[in-house]
Amino acid sequence: MATIEYVLGDITEQEVDVIVNAANSSLLGGGGVDGAIHRKGGPEILAACRELRAGHYGGGLKTGQAVATTAGRLNARWVVHTVGPVWSDTEDRSELLAACHRNSLKVAGDLGARSIAFPAISTGIYRWPVRSAARIAREAVEDAELDLVRFVLFDQAAYDAFTRV
Ligand code: APR
Repeated sequence: MATIEYVLGDITEQEVDVIVNAANSSLLGGGGVDGAIHRKGGPEILAACRELRAGHYGGGLKTGQAVATTAGRLNARWVVHTVGPVWSDTEDRSELLAACHRNSLKVAGDLGARSIAFPAISTGIYRWPVRSAARIAREAVEDAELDLVRFVLFDQAAYDAFTRV
């Protein structure tokens, strides 16, 4: 049974086995968490992402899927990249957001990771309402078999939403 914790801070500063990146399907970087992880983690991460694109992930990473690379200069052993769903007013994509968390946990577990840090996936550029995302994320990690699942929230509103779930 994993310990679930909530931290207000920067995910690139976390010292855990796996840092989860809220990526996009190109796996070639972006803004938000994606930008921060590539900036702090250094070029090795992008090089590893390019290799994935040249190989098994030629078409990019699908929404809800997760894949691991080196963590470069971050204080982690791996970065697990996952693509969150973009918020939709008309279509319920909750299952895809849950899948991001479950698949990230599976990839991390298969690597032997014991601790993982998640950002609030999809709640930035992808506009998912943070309270809804908090509920989905918390439920999705309920049966995590790691020792530690840490949600790293970048602003007070997200921290309040996640800690009130
Ligand atoms: N540490 C922790 N959380 C962060 C950090 C950071 N350094 N930087 C941003 N965040 C938070 C945001 O405040 C938001 O709550 O991460 C959450 C997710 O926001 P985004 O990074 O915008 O990710 P997302 O909404 O999933 O959109 C993904 O954005 O960066 C691009 O390439 C990415 O196209 C993809 C899209």
